[in-house]
Amino acid sequence: MWWSATPRWPSTAPGSGVRPVPAAIVYGTPPYNLVDVPTGAVQVSPILPGSTALESLPDASQDEAVIAAPPGTAERDYALAQALRVLKPGGRLTAFAPKDKGGSRLKKSLEAFGCEVFEESRKHNRICTVERPQTIVGLDAFVAKGAAEQMGELWSQPGVFSWDRVDPGSALLIANLPPLKGKGADFGAGIGILALTVLASPDVKSLALVDVDRRAIEAARKNVTDPRATIVWEDVRQAGLADLDFVVMNPPFHDGGAEDRALGVAFIETAAKALRKGGTCWLTANRHLPYERPLGAAFSKVELRAEAGGYKIYEARK
Ligand SMILES: C[S@@+](CC[C@H](N)C(=O)[O-])C[C@H]1O[C@@H](n2cnc3c(N)ncnc32)[C@H](O)[C@@H]1O
Repeated sequence: MWWSATPRWPSTAPGSGVRPVPAAIVYGTPPYNLVDVPTGAVQVSPILPGSTALESLPDASQDEAVIAAPPGTAERDYALAQALRVLKPGGRLTAFAPKDKGGSRLKKSLEAFGCEVFEESRKHNRICTVERPQTIVGLDAFVAKGAAEQMGELWSQPGVFSWDRVDPGSALLIANLPPLKGKGADFGAGIGILALTVLASPDVKSLALVDVDRRAIEAARKNVTDPRATIVWEDVRQAGLADLDFVVMNPPFHDGGAEDRALGVAFIETAAKALRKGGTCWLTANRHLPYERPLGAAFSKVELRAEAGGYKIYEARK
């Protein structure tokens, strides 16, 4: 096989000259010992604040790409298409995913680009390795399918939370949110759905929209143009917000694709820290998520304000 014995970089043997540093990218955080990530690989995952946008890299500029393929079909094909675009012909792409989270479809996806795929199974993952062909089949169509788009008034992008419809939990919060006042934040703001409702109140002085997803942040920047809004690509736990009058949130319960209730609890604790005494947190959550206890521990008063369609709305006062 092409990727076995033959070194693709110039030899490092004495007298062979200077070895160029291969340019490499990594998308996501591969689990320990699953695949090799080249030293110095540039992080390009949109959900890691501070990473480089894969879209910003020039065509045929990279020697190697390692992709922790995301679970959604359009999002995954888009990431693979972009990775193949930035690889030099002959460059190596390693893509992997858990079998039940898109891994079993990876080989087909890569074959659709005209790649010859070597597939192996390890630690519940499918790992596919390909050499970037001279010509990539259907590249533009796959990029277009996963790119940001405007639906009605709002910009969004596949891969963003509930990217093509308003989440029912968010809709219930919007229907029950009173006009808010003062300085506030929207934790995990997504494309800005809740923020638009919050900013309808003239008594809101400022609103920080915080999200880890660059695609959501870029969409929110186009959707929420109110000068009272600041839009921050950051982990809410590191955002350093303080002395707020209110926080609104539909907390995430997935971290990197895996259910993680601790993340929702961290959002609750971070909101309590960011609020002034007497400030309020408005939260929507799926009814099965056990947030009563962490809310009770972090706030002095917690009230259930609405319950419908499998979701609950809480108002918690610090
Ligand atoms: C359930 S969605 C809610 C999105 C939006 N507020 C809405 O109502 O449609 C949770 C959001 O939190 C973001 N998120 C996840 N972990 C985060 C973190 N550590 N810091 C900030 N945002 C995070 C996700 O990217 C996602 O956009």
